[in-house]
Amino acid sequence: MATRNPRTGSPSDASAVTDAELARRAAEAFKSAYSPYSNIRVGAALLATDGRVFTGCNVENASFGMTVCAERTAVLKAVSEGAREFTAIALATDHEHPLMPCGACRQVLFEFAPRLRVLVIGPDGTRRETILDALLPDAFGPLDMR
Ligand code: THU
Repeated sequence: MATRNPRTGSPSDASAVTDAELARRAAEAFKSAYSPYSNIRVGAALLATDGRVFTGCNVENASFGMTVCAERTAVLKAVSEGAREFTAIALATDHEHPLMPCGACRQVLFEFAPRLRVLVIGPDGTRRETILDALLPDAFGPLDMR
């Protein structure tokens, strides 16, 4: 059952946010992309268990290795705002085909949510859904550091 905080009207858990809403937020986020080198715009919308949605876009740099992907922008924003548990991430792009998360982003997301649902939306609205641990099998993660 979708619930909302009666005082603020904000979602109070992740079930209040639909996949369609998450996809819409990701598509909105890519409009902020700073990508003068690749001209690829990527947006991410990361859903926390408490219902908050953290968005991110790719931010490129003239020193190419400093580029930050949309997914990592979103997760770093989220963790720095106190969210550490996530249920889903939506990714949107205006590139000619849907973009799967890169290896670095898979690793960073895995730290917090190995079972994260990953929804990838193409420029024509096509959707693909998978789970993070299928994208990063036999991952090195927090349990290895115990
Ligand atoms: N990019 C992302 O934002 N997320 C990914 O998972 C794949 C790649 C961005 C980084 C760079 O700005 C552009 O796409 C081309 O690599």
